[in-house]
Amino acid sequence: MKRINTFEQYEREYNRSVLAPEEFWAEQAEQFTWKKKWDKVLDWNFDEPQINWFVNGKLNITENALDRHLASIGNQTAILWEPNNPNEQAREISYNELHLEVCKFANVLKNNGAKKGDRICIYLPMVPELAIAMLACARIGAVHSVVFGGFSFKSLTDRITDSECSMVITSDGGFRGTKDIPLKSVVDEALESCPSVNKVVVLQRTGEHIVMQPNRDVWWHDEIKIVSGDCPAETMDAEDILFILYTSGSTGKPKGVVHTTAGYMIYTDYTFRNVFQYNEGDVFWCTADVGWITGHSYLVYGPLLAGATTLMFEGIPTYPDAGRFWSVIDKHKVNIFYTAPTAIRSLQALGLAFVTPYKLDSLRVLGSVGEPINEEAWHWYDENIGKKNCPIVDTYWQTETGGIMISPLAGITKTKPGYATFPLPGIQPVLVDEKGNELQGNDVEGRLCIKFPWPGIIRTTYGNHQRAKETYFNHYKGYYFTGDGCKRDHEGYYRITGRVDDVLKVSGHLLGTAEIENAINEHKDIVESAVVGFPHDIKGYGIYAFVICDHERNDTDNLKKEIVETVTKFMGPIAKPDKIQIVKGLPKTRSGKIMRRILRKIAENDLSNIGDTSTLLDPAVVDEIKAGAII
Ligand code: PRX
Repeated sequence: MKRINTFEQYEREYNRSVLAPEEFWAEQAEQFTWKKKWDKVLDWNFDEPQINWFVNGKLNITENALDRHLASIGNQTAILWEPNNPNEQAREISYNELHLEVCKFANVLKNNGAKKGDRICIYLPMVPELAIAMLACARIGAVHSVVFGGFSFKSLTDRITDSECSMVITSDGGFRGTKDIPLKSVVDEALESCPSVNKVVVLQRTGEHIVMQPNRDVWWHDEIKIVSGDCPAETMDAEDILFILYTSGSTGKPKGVVHTTAGYMIYTDYTFRNVFQYNEGDVFWCTADVGWITGHSYLVYGPLLAGATTLMFEGIPTYPDAGRFWSVIDKHKVNIFYTAPTAIRSLQALGLAFVTPYKLDSLRVLGSVGEPINEEAWHWYDENIGKKNCPIVDTYWQTETGGIMISPLAGITKTKPGYATFPLPGIQPVLVDEKGNELQGNDVEGRLCIKFPWPGIIRTTYGNHQRAKETYFNHYKGYYFTGDGCKRDHEGYYRITGRVDDVLKVSGHLLGTAEIENAINEHKDIVESAVVGFPHDIKGYGIYAFVICDHERNDTDNLKKEIVETVTKFMGPIAKPDKIQIVKGLPKTRSGKIMRRILRKIAENDLSNIGDTSTLLDPAVVDEIKAGAII
């Protein structure tokens, strides 16, 4: 299998990708199965933005992730599934079997009225059928929109409505640790206000009692019995939408990030093979939920395109105990392990007694993703999990970038704890100051932008192209803006310093402060709220909510509990505030804008650096908030 093998080769490839990007990516594209080759490699304009890779090329991604492998590795395990309960049987699904299941389920979708271009919402737990459902959508040219099972009904409603999905694929429920998550009843509640949906396909997972709505709801296991295993792959244009994945932004409304077929395919495959230095036969485990981009790109598409064995884990790292990750690594002889700093920090905090019983000697490469990894966690991971024998790839990227952007190549790039190191071939990072001036040379810090398209770049935000333009391409002319702060050190290494906008990284999940505020404001007694982040040892950032109640309530503890319940109900447990302070007013400018900078300082307990408050409508509120701050 072709991949970069030395640092000199990386430098050569990188230079080539900058000098002749079209030639570089065309060479990668040649390795795939096309129904028709492209006429032109790239057509682009960041001002519009309009980005077309492999213009007029025709293909189907499932022919590349499945059919292409059958002759050579048809019997190899494609998906290795580890259930939540260690006593339940693990499942091994070969490429042959996966191909068959995808074709069958694609026929189920067709039988239930789905067709090319339809949007289909997938709201499933971490079971192989989740990957089968995604690939079946891609097989027939339907657009999948996976919603993370940790989001609850209002978030689900918003995401279904925004892209007018005609179908939902869900399950009765899902197992996570000791909990059963009632997915179908959340879907039922969400669909009360989603008129576009006319079919729901329900997988049986937990066996709990659910209500099936006649004419709308059908069982997966009934439908699959009556279809053939033959389903020719739909011909897709290179730029046809493969999927929509919602991500939080600075307004309350999530953005439907659009990825298209060929570019995403080529980019996830290329980055998977090179960053992790994948060897044929390796077992690769990405612990991310498929509801996030990491799961899309490095649990499903990247590994399957490369013909790897991808491990999918249904459970949580602490069930039945905090040694579960390590026991799964030994059990399935995992070679490459890819997880989030939050998980590392929480397992580190629970102590080495959960690690030492395990050999972990199958591991060759470790990865980190989703948020900056602090040095302490990096060293713990290196020493106790990698036994100082496994390179750590700290991979920086985003939902919008489709795949990894800045990262070491395992064992090839010299790493530095806390640094994502260097850009991958095809990625041209620039740092700019607030005015958009490019900061040249090393030892500089600014905002991270990218100045040339790569195949995995976001094409638009679904149904609202203007939003994509304003969010990513208008801030700094001619550049894609990531929303992240970044430092380039004296040796040219990149270190991501965190978000510079109103989104928070909580346990690696990107959450919009406005979205959380909307959920809090659903509580009948709350008139206004403001949410900011504060540094949290395990979660990276915790959620601090300042709320105004419309009348005095003496039972503050109950009120706080109710607020947490409201957020859980409307948005999901991932967005629960860690701290809630009831306040009489919020610091606002005369034009009514909340000065979050001040609230952030209070939440961070940095009271001496609050700065000038004289421009506020009512500076006295700041003293009141300071006095009641929860430290
Ligand atoms: O702030 C950066 C952070 O995660 C953001 C993207 O979040 P999301 O779209 O949910 O995708 C996460 C998985 C790719 C980025 O804007 N981030 C991601 N990876 C890193 C990171 N921050 C520092 N180091 C990383 N390796």
